[in-house]
Amino acid sequence: MSSLRWVDTPSTDRLAAANGILNHFARELIPSEPDAPIERIVSEIVDAPSYRRIHVIEAVERDEVVGAAELVLDDVVGRDSFAWVKALVVVPEHRRRHIGTAMFEAIVERSRQEARERLHGFFSAPHEAGSAFVTSFGGRTTGIVTLLIRVHTLDLDRAMLEGWVDRADEHADVYSLVRFDGPCPDMWSSQFAELATVMNTIPRSSEDVDTVYSAEQILERQKAHLAGGGWSWTVCVCQKPSMRLVGFTELSGTPHRPWLAVQGDTGVHPDHRNRGLSRWVKAVNVLRLLDVRPEVQVIESLNEHMNYPMLSINAAMGFRQVVEWVEWNRATS
Ligand SMILES: CC(C)(COP(=O)(O)OP(=O)(O)OC[C@H]1O[C@@H](n2cnc3c(N)ncnc32)[C@H](O)[C@@H]1OP(=O)(O)O)[C@@H](O)C(=O)NCCC(=O)NCCS
Repeated sequence: MSSLRWVDTPSTDRLAAANGILNHFARELIPSEPDAPIERIVSEIVDAPSYRRIHVIEAVERDEVVGAAELVLDDVVGRDSFAWVKALVVVPEHRRRHIGTAMFEAIVERSRQEARERLHGFFSAPHEAGSAFVTSFGGRTTGIVTLLIRVHTLDLDRAMLEGWVDRADEHADVYSLVRFDGPCPDMWSSQFAELATVMNTIPRSSEDVDTVYSAEQILERQKAHLAGGGWSWTVCVCQKPSMRLVGFTELSGTPHRPWLAVQGDTGVHPDHRNRGLSRWVKAVNVLRLLDVRPEVQVIESLNEHMNYPMLSINAAMGFRQVVEWVEWNRATS
């Protein structure tokens, strides 16, 4: 019979077992995936911005940790009524013994205590247990599928990317670039926060409402990433006459997985779409990556499966699907 315990003081010692379990599951999905070091999960929790709390629960049997789950609680407009089950994994030898169910029930209880009305999460499509497990606790799929996509830097076509940048010259009288590394400069921060809400226009489930990060929360997230040893480059498009930011993209990495860069959000205001602006900003960042970060071998991103414009740009860059994440949700009551 297993028992459950919440990890109240996250540290390299306390999280080592959970990290091992998450690494093992990552290899179930991507067999060649290198282990993420323990520092990664510790930093994710300890260096999180103040609007984000991550709770880890473990299932223990005879002193052995046999299951682990991460519950993410964001105090952000649009995300404060639900909680995110970021991971819930039972080691293969202990599956089908209701350990997953026990962890899930504890997560529901904690989410209720935190006044969260709904839980959501993802299972990976080829993994039948995940789908059956979600059905067993009354979770239902939302119709949203998020693709984890990756491209090897050796497969990037530099000439094509340079062409995307050159083509932007056609708009040189209307648009210019605003670039910053790490935190957004004060003079742009409120505009950048406003522009970031363009991410609410990507396909989403009918129950989702707009997520709105304040300028302070965005700044805090960027500073927290830096404090954890990470790097991030943001490239924005500025409409020259009005000095309005109308598009942006983010590329980042951490010292814990130096071989990996994460292509984060990219968004262009609807009035400025179909002019090659997202190609431009993405190409600028990736060309810089090729020039100054030779240690990065892989770029990864998440792409909603019905976001066709972004899928086509990413496909042209050479990104290929690695994992398919199916979204589910369930009320906590
Ligand atoms: C999904 C996972 C967490 C389930 O954990 P578990 O402890 O084995 O699940 P439980 O024993 O509590 O199963 C509860 C119910 O889910 C369903 N279920 C779970 N695994 C199943 C499988 N392999 N095939 C069919 N049904 C399954 C069954 O209805 C089961 O009840 P039953 O055994 O009484 O028939 C585990 O398989 C796992 O770690 N997978 C990898 C990570 C993952 O996919 N997580 C899901 C994210 S939500």
